[in-house]
Amino acid sequence: MSKLTALITGASSGIGYELAKIHAQNHYNLVLVARSSDKLANVKKELEYQYPVSVQILALDISVAVNIQKLTDFTDSQSIRIDHLINNAGIGVYGKYWETSVEDHLKLIQLNVNALVALTHHYSKKMVAHGSGKILNVASTAAFMPGPFMSTYFASKAFVLSFGEAVDSELSDTEVSLTTLCPGPTKTGFEAAASGMKESGLFTKSKVATAKDVALDGYDAMMKGNPVIVSGLINKLNVFSIRFSPRSWVIAITKSIMKPVN
Ligand SMILES: NC(=O)c1ccc[n+]([C@@H]2O[C@H](COP(=O)([O-])OP(=O)(O)OC[C@H]3O[C@@H](n4cnc5c(N)ncnc54)[C@H](OP(=O)(O)O)[C@@H]3O)[C@@H](O)[C@H]2O)c1
Repeated sequence: MSKLTALITGASSGIGYELAKIHAQNHYNLVLVARSSDKLANVKKELEYQYPVSVQILALDISVAVNIQKLTDFTDSQSIRIDHLINNAGIGVYGKYWETSVEDHLKLIQLNVNALVALTHHYSKKMVAHGSGKILNVASTAAFMPGPFMSTYFASKAFVLSFGEAVDSELSDTEVSLTTLCPGPTKTGFEAAASGMKESGLFTKSKVATAKDVALDGYDAMMKGNPVIVSGLINKLNVFSIRFSPRSWVIAITKSIMKPVN
């Protein structure tokens, strides 16, 4: 059985589940985190049946600070060395900012930003001390522009990208790397979880990737130690063109894509 272990947040579905599967195929033991214990139990059963790996599951809401502590206490107390940290769990809130619940926006920031920052800190310190390790933080192509109708989501992903590039640069003289994965629209449970988002042009007008393809792109880039990976050719072209476009145009175009279809 493998001696290397990957910790993956948001591993019960979508991109996180596919990243868990790729790691199992490559014989990594797994620590998987999400809120739904039944879904996690199914993933554990499936992966342990198919691959020679051990899968530990923790049903925790990591938007709550005390649960982040529970997670790090668990791996520390069990002396589980985390070789790959995948900060994938993330949520969106869709709608005009002032018409949506501020509690939902604050929860989004707790999960998309605070949990990712806290876990990156805890495990990067251990990885540097140990002399090896890889971190994959899941941002989005949303990181490259402001996003009307998903203001805090786009801003949280801009944070994840900027934070990741900076920390990866600080890590350059160590054996540890941090890769930021930027997927475009991807077929997962994400748009259903961000109520109303399904009705936006983002998913009806854009080319939607599979979670498996996105996960493979992220895994490959992380293994190579690349700082940033934008998944998919069209997304790469879009992100490239944003660099040369006036900010006001970018916001206007994003608004027209993000607005409710009806
Ligand atoms: N789908 C897209 O179009 C897209 C595009 C760009 C970037 N992304 C990013 O990709 C990442 C994965 O999303 P996905 O598309 O795969 O969506 P998903 O299928 O909805 O997966 C989200 C995962 O996060 C978990 N999660 C949600 N809230 C949590 C919490 N408070 N504590 C712990 N786990 C929590 C969910 O499990 P439970 O519900 O069981 O907790 C689930 O496993 C996110 O960071 C998202 O922002 C997605």
